[in-house]
Amino acid sequence: MIGILRDVQALAASYQTMISDIQTPAELDQLRSQLLGKTSVVAKALGSLKSIPIEQKRELGAAANQLSRQIESALAAQQAIVSQAKDDDLPPIDFSQPIQSVHQAGHMHPTQVVLSEVYDIFTRLGFAVVDGPEIETDWYNFEVLNMPADHPAREMQDTFYIESDEGHPPLVPRTHTSASQIRYMEEHEPPFKVIVPGKVYRNEDEDRTHMWSFYQVEGLVVGEGVSMADLKGTLLHVMKELFGDSTKIRFRPSFFPYTEPSVEVDVWYQDEWLEICGAGMVHADVLERGGIDSERFTGFAFGFGPDRLTMIRYGLKDIRILWRPNMLVSKQA
Ligand code: PHE
Repeated sequence: MIGILRDVQALAASYQTMISDIQTPAELDQLRSQLLGKTSVVAKALGSLKSIPIEQKRELGAAANQLSRQIESALAAQQAIVSQAKDDDLPPIDFSQPIQSVHQAGHMHPTQVVLSEVYDIFTRLGFAVVDGPEIETDWYNFEVLNMPADHPAREMQDTFYIESDEGHPPLVPRTHTSASQIRYMEEHEPPFKVIVPGKVYRNEDEDRTHMWSFYQVEGLVVGEGVSMADLKGTLLHVMKELFGDSTKIRFRPSFFPYTEPSVEVDVWYQDEWLEICGAGMVHADVLERGGIDSERFTGFAFGFGPDRLTMIRYGLKDIRILWRPNMLVSKQA
C-alpha cells in the first residue's frame, strides 16, 4: 500500500480525538490549518493524485475526500462547543437601545437535516410517514405493549406521569414512539409500512449522552411472510444510505416485552460498534390487540434515535448541544 494512503488512514483514526481535545477558538484555528492546510496529509494526498496509477488514485481520492469532509464537520462541531463557552462571557444587552445588529439568518438544525434524509430514504422504500400524539395514555404507551403497571421494563422508561380525572388512567408524555404502534394497527389493515417520528420524554438526568427529551423514529411493517431477514435488510439499507456503502450492522439478542425475538442493532462506524436501535418481530399479543390476525400476518418494528445518528454524523460528543439555543449549531449544517 502506498505510504500516503496509510497516513490518511492513520489520521482518520485519530483526528476526532485531536479535535475533541481543543478548548479555545485560537487553538482550533491552528489545528484547522494543521489538518486541512497546504502541508496537511489531506492536501498532500489530493495533490499526489495526478501522479499515481488509476486503481490507487480511486482509493486514495475517495479516502482523502471523505476524511476532509469528516474533519470539516468535526471542526465545525467543536467550534460550536468552544464558542458556547465564549458566549457565556458576553456583556449584558441594553434593551433600551435601538436594534443595530445585522440580521442573522438561521439554518436547518442538524437533527432536522438528518431527519429529512431519514424521511427521504424511507419514503423511497415505500414507507408512509405518520404522526402519533406526544401526550399518551398509559394504555398505549405501556399496557398494550405487554408492560402492565408492575412490569420491570417500565423502570427503564420512567417518565413524568400526569394525573388525570378521577377514574381515568394517568397520561404520560410518551416514553417511546412504540406507543403509536397499536394506534396505527387499529386504524389500518395490513399490509402496511410506516415510520412514526417524533419527540419522546423520560425522567433522565442530563449528561453527554442523555436528555430528558429526544427524538425517536419508530418503524412498523406488517404483512404476510414479513421476516427478521426483512428487518435486517431494511435497516442495513437505511444505514448504508446514511453513512456510506461500506457501513455494516450487527444484531445482538435483547429483550422488549412487545417484540419476540428482540434485538439491539449496532452500526460499524469509524472502527467501532455503536448501538443505534432496538428492534424485533412484533409480538403476537400486540398484533392481536391491534386487531390483526397473528396467524396470518407477521411484522417487524424498530425504534432509533435521530439525535444519536446526528451526533455520529457530525462527530458530536455531547447530545446537549443539539438541544440548546446556539446559532453556531444551526449554522454549521
Ligand atoms: N421502544 C424501544 C425503545 O425505546 C425501541 C424498540 C422499538 C424496540 C420497536 C423494539 C421495537 O428503546
